[in-house]
Amino acid sequence: MQHLGEEVARLGLELACIVAVSPNGTIGVTSAEPPYAQSLPWDVPEDLANFQRVTKHCALIMGRKTFLSLPRLLKGRIHIVLSSTSNWASELSSTELQEDDEGTAIWPATADTLAYHLTQLARHHPQRPRTVFVIGGSAVFAQFAEFCTRWYITIVNWQRGEGDMFKEVHYCLPPASLFQQEMEVVHNGPWMRSRGKGNVEYVFLKIERRASAAENAPTALGGTDAAYGLPKEKEKQD
Ligand SMILES: NC(=O)c1ccc[n+]([C@@H]2O[C@H](COP(=O)([O-])OP(=O)(O)OC[C@H]3O[C@@H](n4cnc5c(N)ncnc54)[C@H](OP(=O)(O)O)[C@@H]3O)[C@@H](O)[C@H]2O)c1
Repeated sequence: MQHLGEEVARLGLELACIVAVSPNGTIGVTSAEPPYAQSLPWDVPEDLANFQRVTKHCALIMGRKTFLSLPRLLKGRIHIVLSSTSNWASELSSTELQEDDEGTAIWPATADTLAYHLTQLARHHPQRPRTVFVIGGSAVFAQFAEFCTRWYITIVNWQRGEGDMFKEVHYCLPPASLFQQEMEVVHNGPWMRSRGKGNVEYVFLKIERRASAAENAPTALGGTDAAYGLPKEKEKQD
C-alpha cells in the first residue's frame, strides 16, 4: 500500500474520499450480538442522495465489511472490494463480477491486486474514470486518507441514545493540523435538518488539497473547530 500514491499519480487517477461522520468520529455501528450486522446509525436520506450524485459513474474502493453492509449494489459503479482473502467472493456469480450495461460490477481485490485493478480502470476501461472514490469503512479511510486530494464530508449531528446496544465504528479524520496546512475548505454548509427519522441535522463540507500547501495556512478552516471542520456557530435551516 505504501506506493499507492505514486501508482495513482502515474496512472493519472485521483483519489477522493466521501464520508459521513458524527462529531465524535462515529461512521457506523455494528450490532453487539450476532449476526454483528454493520450499518449506519442515522437515517439521513439527503446524505445518501448526495453520495449517489457525487460518486455517479465513478469507481469505488471499500472494505469487505462496508461492501457487505450495502443494501444493494450501487448502479453504474465498479465496487473494488478489499479483503485479505478471496474466500468471501467465492459466492459471487459471474454476472456480479462482470460489468453490466450500466457499468455496475464487483472487483474483489487484495492489497497486492489493487494496483492491477487501478491500471485496468485507468488504461483499459471504456470510460477511463479519472476519480476513484474511497468510501470506507474505518480501516480503509485510515489507509487511504493521505492519498486523497478531495474530501466530501457530511457532518451528522448524531449522538448515541440511551440504551443503544450496538458498538460504534469510529474513524477520526486526519488532524486539523494537516487540514490547516494542506487543505482548503471549498464548501461549508449550511446546516440542514434531515427529513429522515429523528430529523438529524447535517452539513456538507468539501475540502480540497491545496496545490500550494503553504498558502493561507493559518486560516484554512476559517471559523471552524476541531478535527472535523465543524462550524463553531451552526447556521440552521429549519
Ligand atoms: N459513514 C460513512 O461514511 C461510512 C462509510 C463506509 C462504511 N461505514 C460503516 O462502517 C462500518 C464498516 O467499516 P469497518 O471499518 O468495520 O470495515 P471496512 O473498512 O469496511 O472493512 C474492513 C475489512 O476490509 C478489508 N481490508 C481493509 N484494508 C485492507 C487491505 N489493505 N488489504 C486487504 N484487505 C483489507 C479486510 O477484510 P478481511 O477481513 O476480509 O481481510 C477488513 O477486515 C459499517 O458500519 C458501515 O455502515 C460508514
